[in-house]
Amino acid sequence: MDILLTGGTGTLGRPLCAALQGAGHRLTVLSRRPATDVRHRCGPAVEVWPTLDAWSVDRHFDAVINLAGEAIADARWTSARQALLRSSRIDLTSALVTRMGAARTPPQVLLSGSAIGWYGDRQDLALDETSTGGHDFAARLCADWEDAAGGAAAFGVRVCQLRTGLVLSRQGGMLSRMYWPFRLGLGARIGDGRQWMSWIHVDDWVALALHLLNDGHAEGAYNLTAPFPVTHSEFTQRLAHSLRRPVWLSVPASILRLGLGEAAGLLLGGQRVMPGRLEAQGYRFLFPQLEPALRSLMR
Ligand SMILES: NC(=O)c1ccc[n+]([C@@H]2O[C@H](COP(=O)([O-])OP(=O)(O)OC[C@H]3O[C@@H](n4cnc5c(N)ncnc54)[C@H](OP(=O)(O)O)[C@@H]3O)[C@@H](O)[C@H]2O)c1
Repeated sequence: MDILLTGGTGTLGRPLCAALQGAGHRLTVLSRRPATDVRHRCGPAVEVWPTLDAWSVDRHFDAVINLAGEAIADARWTSARQALLRSSRIDLTSALVTRMGAARTPPQVLLSGSAIGWYGDRQDLALDETSTGGHDFAARLCADWEDAAGGAAAFGVRVCQLRTGLVLSRQGGMLSRMYWPFRLGLGARIGDGRQWMSWIHVDDWVALALHLLNDGHAEGAYNLTAPFPVTHSEFTQRLAHSLRRPVWLSVPASILRLGLGEAAGLLLGGQRVMPGRLEAQGYRFLFPQLEPALRSLMR
């Protein structure tokens, strides 16, 4: 397939680029970075586009994979930051959808990013794709992002929204940030530790993206999370155990709220998300359980 990718240089984009090229697909990566940097991250054979203006009506892509977005957990959500978090996802997705509609032959499929933050903070409630959405900033961001992608269905495009959980990878994201403090025995529990963490191993995330790309019947929102989510307390214990370190520190919720404001909700709240649709289809996870997933990444 000829595939256009946004966010191809990111934590999820890089292993996905490698897997797609390994499967024989040709990639064009939309990126703000210099072409040399993109080729270094995504592979020497990728075509690099600095803007969507490069998309002429005659250029056909079989698929578009849309992962770009300003990092959500990196800074306090000031109103300027919120605007950037929204525009880097929703405006870019709307622009992509407009281009898909303008193409003489629109792509067959759009895989578009989203997150389990779509559900909001729901304490212990088990959630699947039939559950209702949340109302906080992150939930509205995801809902509007999904809606923008859904617009491509009007052009006959099969649209899948990837409601991604906390991806475990050593190349970026939450685990790579936790690794060194825990490795040095300075890992800490956050808040009361009862918040749920719906995680997924990066290898499963990549395998699922390929699965949804290739399954012509897959459509709509999918929870990309392992079938056994854990509480934050259990996660920190298991991470520390995998590194043979203790966890004896904790960060009170009040301190985190003082530093991060509303964004602290990402760490203090959580969702207990089940991959209902994938399980119903019989998808077999490479890493359904946390301990082997951590072990494979800590090797
Ligand atoms: N990793 C996770 O655990 C996780 C969980 C849930 C949802 N997600 C979502 O999945 C997507 C991919 O995740 P990731 O971990 O790979 O993210 P990432 O490492 O932060 O990469 C995101 C990519 O988006 C592009 N980007 C960043 N800021 C942008 C901006 N202001 N305007 C346009 N493009 C921008 C960048 O590409 P260039 O620099 O090349 O332009 C970057 O490589 C993200 O949208 C994220 O919100 C991730």
